[in-house]
Amino acid sequence: MSTVSIIYFSGSGHTAKMAEAVTKGAVSVAGAQTHHIAINGEDIVKGRYKNEAVMAQLDASNAIIFGSPTYMGGPSAQFKAFADATGERWFRGAWRDKLAAGFTVSGNPSGDKLNTLEYFFILAMQHGMIWIGVPDNAMNDKGINRLGGWSGAMGQAGYESPEVAPNEGDKLTGEILGRRVATFAVKMAG
Ligand SMILES: Cc1cc2nc3c(=O)[nH]c(=O)nc-3n(C[C@H](O)[C@H](O)[C@H](O)COP(=O)(O)O)c2cc1C
Repeated sequence: MSTVSIIYFSGSGHTAKMAEAVTKGAVSVAGAQTHHIAINGEDIVKGRYKNEAVMAQLDASNAIIFGSPTYMGGPSAQFKAFADATGERWFRGAWRDKLAAGFTVSGNPSGDKLNTLEYFFILAMQHGMIWIGVPDNAMNDKGINRLGGWSGAMGQAGYESPEVAPNEGDKLTGEILGRRVATFAVKMAG
């Protein structure tokens, strides 16, 4: 059984909806199981994130998918606090050769989401992980990758509630990414 962990922060619920979609895609793959992990702000004390139980789940994963809203053109402070806490794993090379991917939600169609995905990519590369992106283009009638983010899954919140946004196309994009990562995780384990 291959394990795909989805670890994300969500302030007002939109990124949590994307995370659900990514998890849905990952669990649909035979031979894959998931850890769906929300970064809890209460685990951040004096700016430092600490939760060894979460880190142990990530250590035991074949793939880790990072998620955050785009805040002020980058990942949220809560996600960054988590990322900084992975430094000890970086030092030991503990996540080397795990698969990695990312997703983000912002208010605007662009909203500088690519910068958040690029941050996830650099984090993954620092850990020696293997990056997986979104293969589809926007030329379909389902809204898949309508925002055109091949580096990872993008969703738009607009001014809508998390019950309405990200829309079905954005969530389908997240689902495709989750399924793709899990498919490769199972193949690698085999
Ligand atoms: C502090 C803050 C900064 C934000 N910065 C951006 C931004 O740079 N670009 C953008 O398009 N939306 C921005 N937004 C809008 C959020 O990305 C959007 O509301 C998103 O739904 C938040 O995800 P969440 O519901 O998971 O917290 C910002 C929102 C907040 C609260």
